[in-house]
Amino acid sequence: MGLLSSDLQVAVAFMDAEHNELIRVLVALEERAAAHDRSACQGLLDDFRTRVDAHFAHEESLMSKHGYPGTRAHAEQHALFAQRLEVLYEDPVLVLAPRQLVECFQAWFALHLADSDRRLAQWLLAQNLVPTSTPARSG
Ligand SMILES: [Fe+2]
Ligand SMILES: [Fe+2]
Repeated sequence: MGLLSSDLQVAVAFMDAEHNELIRVLVALEERAAAHDRSACQGLLDDFRTRVDAHFAHEESLMSKHGYPGTRAHAEQHALFAQRLEVLYEDPVLVLAPRQLVECFQAWFALHLADSDRRLAQWLLAQNLVPTSTPARSG
């Protein structure tokens, strides 16, 4: 089973899988940050940025392909996060404090997954546009 808590799963297979990978990189980043392993953190940040870009592009291409009504607002949230990621990434003070970076990413993801991504997932599933993933059993 993945790292996504059940309240962050959206039941769309590709979204849950990609979110899970992003969380996996964040967890690794947090561990390396705790160990003050700066070069590993740098590599993980690169990995995270690449995966975030690919994931956002994946969601956005589906939204525009199928005419999702919330496409613009959703894509704007992605763009803001990507911008923030660039700024944080280039800010040496924050790169020296990767734990704060990780906390900031996790907070954003929890919010975005629980709200915008959940709404998108429900819409995609209601239209039968994507395969569902089996929800994890809690408890
Ligand atoms: Fe997402
Ligand atoms: Fe999204």
